[in-house]
Amino acid sequence: MAQFLWSGKEELPDIVKEFTYSIEDDKNLFYYDILGGMAHTLTLYRGGIIDYDEAKSIIDGLYKLKDKNDINFSLYEDIHTAVEIELTALIGEPAKKLHTARSRNDQVSLDERLYLRDSLKEVLNLIRDLIKAFLDLAGVSLDIIVPGFTHLQPAQPVLISHHLLAYVEMLKRDFSRFYSLFPRLNECPLGSGALAGLDFPYDRFLVSEILRFDTPTNNSMDTVTDRDYLIEYIFNALLTSTHISRFGEEIVIWSNPLFGFVKISSGYTTGSSMMPQKRNPDVAELLRGSSGEFLGYLDLLLVTLKGLPLTYNRDLQMDKKVIFRASRSLHIILEITRGLLENMELDREKICKNLNDEFLLATDLADFLVNRGIPFRDSHHIVRDVVFYCQENKKTFSQLSEEEWRKFNEEFLNLPDDFFSFDKAINRRDTYGGTGRSCVEYQLLLNRKWLEETRRLIDALPEVYMEDLVNMIGK
Ligand code: ARG
Repeated sequence: MAQFLWSGKEELPDIVKEFTYSIEDDKNLFYYDILGGMAHTLTLYRGGIIDYDEAKSIIDGLYKLKDKNDINFSLYEDIHTAVEIELTALIGEPAKKLHTARSRNDQVSLDERLYLRDSLKEVLNLIRDLIKAFLDLAGVSLDIIVPGFTHLQPAQPVLISHHLLAYVEMLKRDFSRFYSLFPRLNECPLGSGALAGLDFPYDRFLVSEILRFDTPTNNSMDTVTDRDYLIEYIFNALLTSTHISRFGEEIVIWSNPLFGFVKISSGYTTGSSMMPQKRNPDVAELLRGSSGEFLGYLDLLLVTLKGLPLTYNRDLQMDKKVIFRASRSLHIILEITRGLLENMELDREKICKNLNDEFLLATDLADFLVNRGIPFRDSHHIVRDVVFYCQENKKTFSQLSEEEWRKFNEEFLNLPDDFFSFDKAINRRDTYGGTGRSCVEYQLLLNRKWLEETRRLIDALPEVYMEDLVNMIGK
């Protein structure tokens, strides 16, 4: 027999139950619903709305309930119902006062915010760990030069460390987006009631403080209908996964034997059921595919909110299809990407052997003429003719004779002997943020500092311990 916090004339048909229940998803909120219930009880007691014995009994009962592992959640409409009815079974009469001055409308927002607060902290840690893995690899690969691409065509030589640090920049922005969501997420909905506020002496600042929120929310009607915090979380997840999907694609390309930049250890590849020689980069491919999931979630939430009148409407429950899956998927892709990085090896030998395309230095050649007084547009044309000539005659730049160079421009005779060294070309690009070795080393240094600073930022985020709330009621 299903149990509700409300009663109607008739029992709901099973299909209506299936359609309206959110319990399968929101049992993930069990811990947070209990935590919120404790803070709420403390506030009811401090306001003189319930007495000490009632408050003590509810809080101790909730604390016991958190470890009950034989609850048949499927009986209940949602997690709030489950907690209240299970508590009543445990402690009897006082449990009936738990829902005083509270609606499931402010309660669900509270539970979600508490859940996301923990998830967000975990995300910040995971992004930071991933950045560290990128930095570690970039730090030991400063000697590796690869062709940089535009349009996926060989363009100019770059340090592979520079390439890896590009992802660090994306991930630092992701970190900062998640971090800056924190103050908007960290507002306490309790005390908003169903929509209009409360007719009890309920101290919203106190409950906010107990749960270590920065402040209570400002408008009860907005509070029970607002899901912006979740939408922002999902957007941030989407953009992070979009960055990760780009990296996944790079690894797919880099691990193709025709490229051969990386070897992925067998723990992060899979075999083919038919072709025995193959190692497939499935992990990287799934990372590449991961962002679609978040785009779907974002879509679902925005469509749900669009045109929805104030205040709480049951449509809002659709967010349960998103919040837990999104959080879990985001945690996983961040962890897996780090695992992939730590389980792949850059193939120095192959990369060096294959770095033989002197046309990657065509821009350098044009710039050389510019430095000798020739306008860039002219030098571009001259070098283009040199390239065409080389291609027709199957030669590289350094195979041209003095006579051949002279035909294009006298200035070429002043080219230093080591001009076509890739290493020299890298170090010529020493503007801030460029691929010059000293620039990349400097960025590595800045990023290591960033790691230290963000450790402190994360550690300073609020944490609530259930035991502290239990102790607050006293003996
Ligand atoms: N399961 C509901 C949700 O997730 C909880 C809030 C229900 N509120 C209500 N008035 N029926 O949105």
